Amino acid sequence: MLLAGNASFPRARVTTALIDLARDLEAALDGSLDLVTTSALLDLVSDSWLERLAFDIAARGLPFYAALSYDGRVTFEPFDPLDAAIIAAVHNHQRRDKGFGPALGPDAAKRTIAMFEAVGYLVINAAADWVLKSHDQDMLAALFDGWASAAREVGQQSPPEIATWFTHRRDALSQEKSSIRLGHVDVFAAPIGRR
Ligand SMILES: C[S@@+](CC[C@H](N)C(=O)[O-])C[C@H]1O[C@@H](n2cnc3c(N)ncnc32)[C@H](O)[C@@H]1O
Repeated sequence: MLLAGNASFPRARVTTALIDLARDLEAALDGSLDLVTTSALLDLVSDSWLERLAFDIAARGLPFYAALSYDGRVTFEPFDPLDAAIIAAVHNHQRRDKGFGPALGPDAAKRTIAMFEAVGYLVINAAADWVLKSHDQDMLAALFDGWASAAREVGQQSPPEIATWFTHRRDALSQEKSSIRLGHVDVFAAPIGRR
């Protein structure tokens, strides 16, 4: 697909290609590029894949912008004593292989920063947290549901403990008292002195 002459970005030209990035990363980086960018991807990849990405981008002297990498911070309102244990289980679930090798999950943001600094890039980053409040009921419900399932699969807590946590979370949600902040980071990395 080619999109040209877009009203908001009159000089932008976008082409799309279907590529398995775990297998054919270089195919995505070939050609005439101005910027490599990802969004909500790097939590899924492995440390070795991220290293490959950083080396391949640095070899081409390209800037890199990664939006929305999870950084492991989660704060709940209201507090529940089981939150920390459930999130620890969710993090272990996130670290499972998503096709790229063992996934970075909550380490994605800090490893991205470290990896691009290691290839000599100037790296800047800023928090891009998700903040979900009671008016985001559906999304919060889906998140709690997904986390309870992940915790069950990981098996670090007993099913009754997970059910108790889930019930507390759903109760707070139905009383419109629930909110959550999920730490995400945006990272921009540029080759020093090249651009
Ligand atoms: C969390 S979603 C983010 C989607 C979108 N970039 C965004 O920010 O809303 C992760 C994306 O990674 C893609 N993905 C996962 N494994 C992939 C692979 N091996 N090759 C290419 N894309 C992959 C999925 O198809 C999905 O679109």
